[in-house]
Amino acid sequence: MRVGILTGGGDCPGLNAVIRAIVRKGETVHGDELIGFHDAWDGVMEQRFTQLDVASLRGMLPRGGTFLGTRRGSPYDHADGLDRVQEAFREQRLDALIVIGGNGSLTVASKLFDDLGLPIVGVPKTIDNDVVGTDLTFGFNTAVQIATDAIDRLHTTAESHDRVMVVEVMGRHSGWIATHAGIAGGATVILIPERPFDIDEVCEHLRRRHDRGRYASIVVVAEGCEPREGTMQGRDKVYDQFGHVRLGGVAETIANAIEQRTGFETRMVLLGHVQRGGTPTAFDRVLSTRYGVSAIDAVHLSAWGSMVALQCNDIINVPLRETVGRTRGVDMHLYHEVAEVFFG
Ligand code: F6P
Repeated sequence: MRVGILTGGGDCPGLNAVIRAIVRKGETVHGDELIGFHDAWDGVMEQRFTQLDVASLRGMLPRGGTFLGTRRGSPYDHADGLDRVQEAFREQRLDALIVIGGNGSLTVASKLFDDLGLPIVGVPKTIDNDVVGTDLTFGFNTAVQIATDAIDRLHTTAESHDRVMVVEVMGRHSGWIATHAGIAGGATVILIPERPFDIDEVCEHLRRRHDRGRYASIVVVAEGCEPREGTMQGRDKVYDQFGHVRLGGVAETIANAIEQRTGFETRMVLLGHVQRGGTPTAFDRVLSTRYGVSAIDAVHLSAWGSMVALQCNDIINVPLRETVGRTRGVDMHLYHEVAEVFFG
């Protein structure tokens, strides 16, 4: 078969490992011809691609980012977008397209399958871990490790100066990174989008800890967390060209509010894109490899309109239609019954 591959949306560690696995099994087991489109859907519409083979992917397993390039946006943003995608399938004699993406790219993949019946298989990626239908997306484990390493470092400087450190991690709609890194890093409070926060409660936790003689505290906040209505002035929203709210910076507002209310010296650290960069953890390399191998197998099973997913440690195929347009929030049992035990 002749199979196309694209990476869409924000990058994350493990993308190259998925591509490598697809190509390895596709070429050596199934005898496929593989091509990689540059810059996500733009590369499909403009028919910009590279021929992929095992030799061309040497050294890709540990490399962060995506060597194919990635973009936001979709064929649905262009009047002739769908025609150009169909044209690419025809002219490139594509038998299948594997879309490696998060909620945005998988929604486009699902729509293209529904609207045009294109032979598409999805692979869930995002450091946010918020794709419905899978227990884990690759990239998440690496981001949690990066955030935890940063929190470990912040503990020692916070203790030396008796400071509160507010650490902002990514997590647009869900607080998976914040919850896991917060638990792993011994945070005093963790704020996530799934549970609007009350700044007075946050200050109460900090005071309680300080009353016990522990001055330094780490507050981990997901970039998408919001104050409970009427408790604190939120920030004005800024949107990007695709209509997504541009996040990043809520830690500053929270740090100022904490310092004003408690008098504790407070600093903020924004980890930002550092969490998406660099080499994937061993865990993510294994998960990416399993996803890649299963994705090319799904192509040979004609499992069109499906996504490979991890459920109870098995890789299965789930219909894209069942996963898109929704967000997988944090397991609130983990938040309330485990993380909260250590608050304050
Ligand atoms: O979707 C993953 C993510 O990392 C979000 O957590 C974050 O809000 C967003 O990407 C930022 O993406 P960019 O700045 O690359 O547009």
